[in-house]
Amino acid sequence: MRFDVLTLFPEMVAGPLGASIIGRAQASGGVQLALHQIRDHGIGRHQTVDDTPYGGGSGMVMRCDVVANAVRSVRATAVAEGRVPGPVVLFEPSGHRFDQRMAERFATLESLTLVCGHYEGVDARFAEALADECPIEVVSIGDFVLTGGEYAALVVIDAVARLLPGVLGNSDSASVESFAPGAGLEFPQYTRPREWEGHAVPDVLFSGHHAKIAAWRQQQSELRTATVRPDLVRSPRSTGG
Ligand code: ADE
Repeated sequence: MRFDVLTLFPEMVAGPLGASIIGRAQASGGVQLALHQIRDHGIGRHQTVDDTPYGGGSGMVMRCDVVANAVRSVRATAVAEGRVPGPVVLFEPSGHRFDQRMAERFATLESLTLVCGHYEGVDARFAEALADECPIEVVSIGDFVLTGGEYAALVVIDAVARLLPGVLGNSDSASVESFAPGAGLEFPQYTRPREWEGHAVPDVLFSGHHAKIAAWRQQQSELRTATVRPDLVRSPRSTGG
């Protein structure tokens, strides 16, 4: 799967994704990451990308024409190279909340174009205009405000890429954990040493009795979900509707 990331700070995205599992997936070709500098489409000699908000207020707003030109350029390159340009995701705290279900939907795509806003976000006309040209979704990774969409892009790429075939070593790992369809939060995991600072690993895990272990894990998962995330208990895959 290919991710085109448009950002003013490509180095914020490149570094973290070059390491560990996603780094390996890039090396083996399962994940392709293309970074695009939005400032290349900036206005004038200073390649201006933002301006003060109409109506007043603090901070700077990214210009719709600059961001649209950057996205259109990425899409045009895809077409010229015989690729199908992917849907566009714009990261804003006011977007639809990202979750495992959205990650699963994105993982079915061949490519995704991720637009990282910065400062006070992107002029609202950008998403309005792009919607006439291609699928576009405004996405938030949670109810908090980040300094920019780059962190959100990292989160989304990681969550999506690990669902792609061959990216995780053990193909089981993506199916038994928290937020897998129908599952609650993941049960507690243990490894060596069996006893540590007075804390023992539960005996059932040494019983060799697979059904008993599975039942214990299910019970622990339910307990943890009810305690930590009661909102997941009634309808773990609810869309809120
Ligand atoms: N940009 C700033 N805050 C964000 C958030 N919570 N999710 C996505 N993009 C953001």
